[in-house]
Amino acid sequence: MNLWVCIPAVLALIGLRFLKTHILGWLAAWWICVFVILKFGMVPPMPSSIIGLYVAILTSVLLLYLTSDTERMSQAGNFLMRFFGERKFAPYLWTAAVLIPLLAGTNAYLAASKEVEAPASGRTIHPAPPGEMTFKGKKIDLIKASNPFRELETKDPTAFETHVAAGRKVYYQNCVFCHGDNMEGDGIFAYGYDPLPANFQDPTTIGMLQESYLFWRIAKGGPGLPEESTPWSSAMPAWEKFVSEDDIWNVILFLYRFTGQKPRAQEKAE
Ligand code: HEC
Repeated sequence: MNLWVCIPAVLALIGLRFLKTHILGWLAAWWICVFVILKFGMVPPMPSSIIGLYVAILTSVLLLYLTSDTERMSQAGNFLMRFFGERKFAPYLWTAAVLIPLLAGTNAYLAASKEVEAPASGRTIHPAPPGEMTFKGKKIDLIKASNPFRELETKDPTAFETHVAAGRKVYYQNCVFCHGDNMEGDGIFAYGYDPLPANFQDPTTIGMLQESYLFWRIAKGGPGLPEESTPWSSAMPAWEKFVSEDDIWNVILFLYRFTGQKPRAQEKAE
């Protein structure tokens, strides 16, 4: 506690007991003193959401105190009638009528005109994937998952080619606009985005990732990235809403085929 703030505030409240203050003055003094103690009297400072909570409770308690007694109510009512009705209070009324919107406006202006600064932390481009994910309600273990069509490459090359062809179709219908004709991350929409779409020809993208990792990234997109990959929001759509599970595995085959890269192999546990 900061005693230099709290002691004077408490003394002021004690002193108030000996003064014959008007009920509204008394309420205002309580409100201000408690607010000053909460805002400036606490070390370390309280979060403003907590202060807001306490101030809301304080306000309702003070209102309850005011309205629970007819004499206090009529005292307050009389004053307000005179304040709004009598000529001698008109200057105060006008001052308040100008000052309150002006203060509120200045406050809004100051809050809105803060300079935009680059975030303090860097963005993690390849965050650790979760251990498992759900695809349209179905659980997929990302640690064990592998491309179900990859084995066809050696076992049944003709069937494998139909999957690559299906993936090619998925790519040109959905991905080419951002990831580009040559998969270099320079599609016609690309330069509207920060971060830029991934360049799959670059050996530090799909070449060093497992197919299950790509599955997760394609299914969940930018919205599925963990916090360390923000604060710039990725424009990569969450394809699980538009493309089937098989087609995601197909387009992954096509990404590797087109770029000539090889997926990172599943590591063998010792
Ligand atoms: C609206 C633009 C857009 C479209 C369309 C789009 N992407 Fe992306 N994609 C991005 C952006 C931007 C990133 C880079 C940021 C990130 O990693 O999320 C990205 C990243 C990726 C990554 C992560 C690569 C890495 O190195 O981690 C994969 C995989 C990917 N996209 C695949 C696809 C596939 C497959 C499609 C089509 C089904 C597609 N994208 C369509 C914008 C797009």
